[in-house]
Amino acid sequence: MTLIDGKSVARDIRLELSERTRVFEKKYGKKVGLAVVLIGDDAASQVYVRNKIKACEEAGIRSFAHYLPAETTQRAAEELIVSLAADRNVHGILVQLPLPKHLDAERILSLIPTSKDVDGFSTENIGMLATGGGGTVACTPLGVMELLKRYRIETRGKRAVVVGRSNIVGRPMALLLLNADATVTVCHSKTDNLKEECLRADILIAAIGKAKFITADMVKEGATVIDIGMNRDDNGLLCGDVDFEHVKDRAAYITPVPGGVGPMTIAMLLQNVCDAFERTEKQA
Ligand code: GUN
Repeated sequence: MTLIDGKSVARDIRLELSERTRVFEKKYGKKVGLAVVLIGDDAASQVYVRNKIKACEEAGIRSFAHYLPAETTQRAAEELIVSLAADRNVHGILVQLPLPKHLDAERILSLIPTSKDVDGFSTENIGMLATGGGGTVACTPLGVMELLKRYRIETRGKRAVVVGRSNIVGRPMALLLLNADATVTVCHSKTDNLKEECLRADILIAAIGKAKFITADMVKEGATVIDIGMNRDDNGLLCGDVDFEHVKDRAAYITPVPGGVGPMTIAMLLQNVCDAFERTEKQA
């Protein structure tokens, strides 16, 4: 079994990106900028946002953090996005999800111009992915593809099974694998015979959100197992959607949690911000 070391790959990418931002500053005389918007007090979101801002600083990207209270009105949230959309120092806008329930997230996200949509959530970016690629892609599934590439794990002609169909992870993940010539099955909470579907996977992607949901009897010998889950087990320890201890002996490649896909999400965000900067500045 080979452990896929996302932490180390992400570190390499972040180093490459800090070099890239240095070159940008020399060439264009300005810094890459990312606006991060956090509304409310979701504990996990606070940690994610803190990590994103720290990673920006380390990569030479200017961050503009906007922390709004949970009772923020729809109007105030929309006004903030409109002002960030017009701000020339801001090349990417990230609205951390989930938003408080009283807010219309879709409407708020729709105000982010596609050119600044570093999460790849805009209708236009999703449309490009669905029709074969070319736009900005959601950071977590993009990070998975980068890991597969760097570990030289073949996707062409392989049977990939994605468990989970969220807009942020499962759906774009399935489209990326399809674009990379895999034969893709998407499973979800209503899937009949989930175990049999998973057992057919050469590449099994777990994006369910349930601790240790994928057990060894669901994994084909020699499969690649990618764990996108971020959960707490009964002892309060961070764990993925895969029962790592038992699955690792069946898998040829497997990502740990923590230290697998998680660090790649942030690295891909920084990459998307740098790409957005370069596209904008080249046009200016
Ligand atoms: N919440 C959980 N994952 C993500 C992500 O990738 N982007 C945003 N904006 N919010 C998230």
